[in-house]
Amino acid sequence: MMMPVMTLIMSGTNIAIDWWGGHLIAAQAMQTGNLIAFITYAMQILMSFMMLSMIFVFIPRAQASAVRINEVLDQTTTVKSPANPTPFADTTPELQFDHVQFRYHGAEDPALQGVDFDMKAGQTLAIIGGTGSGKSTLVNLIPRFYDVEEGAVKVNGMNVKDVDLDELHRKIAFVPQKANLFSGTVRSNMQYGNDDATDDEIWHALEVAQAKDFIAANPEGLDYQVEQGGDNFSGGQKQRLAIARALIKDAAVYVFDDSFSALDFKTDAELRQALKDDEKISQRVVVIVGQRVSTVADADTIVVLDNGKMVGRGKHAELKANNETYREIVNSQIREGDEK
Ligand SMILES: Nc1ncnc2c1ncn2[C@@H]1O[C@H](COP(=O)(O)OP(=O)(O)O)[C@@H](O)[C@H]1O
Ligand SMILES: [Mg+2]
Repeated sequence: MMMPVMTLIMSGTNIAIDWWGGHLIAAQAMQTGNLIAFITYAMQILMSFMMLSMIFVFIPRAQASAVRINEVLDQTTTVKSPANPTPFADTTPELQFDHVQFRYHGAEDPALQGVDFDMKAGQTLAIIGGTGSGKSTLVNLIPRFYDVEEGAVKVNGMNVKDVDLDELHRKIAFVPQKANLFSGTVRSNMQYGNDDATDDEIWHALEVAQAKDFIAANPEGLDYQVEQGGDNFSGGQKQRLAIARALIKDAAVYVFDDSFSALDFKTDAELRQALKDDEKISQRVVVIVGQRVSTVADADTIVVLDNGKMVGRGKHAELKANNETYREIVNSQIREGDEK
C-alpha cells in the first residue's frame, strides 16, 4: 500500500500546487521562480514524511533479521574438542580410514560408505571419481569438519575424535577445492601457513609449488601485492600459491582437494615430482584428489569413489586391469593413439 499511496499524495500535491500557482502567475500575482521554489520545498517535506513511514516498514524486517542472526550465532557446533583430549605423541605421520560411513545431516543416503585405507609416512594417496562422488566429503573428514557415522578416521594412529581440534588442525595442511588468497602481500599470504616462515622457506615452498617463476618475475618479489580474493592472479597461479601456503606448514598430512585441476599437464607433473623430491613432504602423507588419471596414476594407493561408495583401491595397473569404474575413467580420458 505504501508506495502507491505516497506516490499519489506526492503527485496530487504537485498537481494542486501547479494548478493553483499557474492561476496566480496568469493573474500576475506571483513569479515563476517563487512557484518553483515552493514546489521544491514542498517535495522536500513530503520526502521526509515518506522516509519516516519507510522506517516503520523496515523496523519489523530488521527485527525478524536480528532474531535469525541470533539463531545462527547461538548455534552450537556438533564437532567439539573432547574434554580430556589425548595429546599427539611424536608419532610418525599416518592416515587411516577404518570402514568409514558418513552422512550429511538430514540426508537420506550416506555420502560415503565403506571407505577404508591405511597410509604410512612417505606414501601418496590419490582419490578419483566423478563430480559429486564424495571426494571433497572424504577429505573434509580428515580435519574433522564433520563426524563420521560409522568407523573411524585416524591421524598418526589417533582417532580424530580423541584429540584436541586445534592440535589436529596443526597436523593437517589442507588446500581446499576453491583456493582463497587474502589481500596483502605474497609474503603475508604465505605466512598464514606458518607465522615464522623465513623468506628462504617461502621461496622454497614457492619453488616446490611451481609458483617461483611468476613471483620472481616481479621486481617486488615476495612484497608483490595480492588483491582481495587473489583477483590479480590466474586460476592456476592462485592454486599454486595456495599449495605453497600449505607446504610451508609443518604438518603430518598434506591434503590437496582438486588443487591440480587448473594446472596444465606439464606443471601438474612437475609439481607432483617436486613433492616427491622434497625432503620434508616426502616423509609425510600426501592426499591428492584428482579428476585426471595422469594426476593420480603414480600414487601408492588410489581410492576410486562412485556415488560415495569406495568401489576400488589399489595401484594404477591393478585397478586398470580389474576395476570397471576405474577403467571407464581411464578410457574416457585417453584418445586413440594416446594409450600409455
Ligand atoms: N554440505 C553438504 N550438505 C549436504 N550434502 C552435501 C554437502 N556437501 C556435499 N554434499 C553432497 O555430497 C555429495 C558429494 O559431494 P562432494 O564430496 O563435494 O563431491 P566431489 O568433491 O567428489 O565432487 C554430493 O551429492 C553433494 O550434493
Ligand atoms: Mg570436490
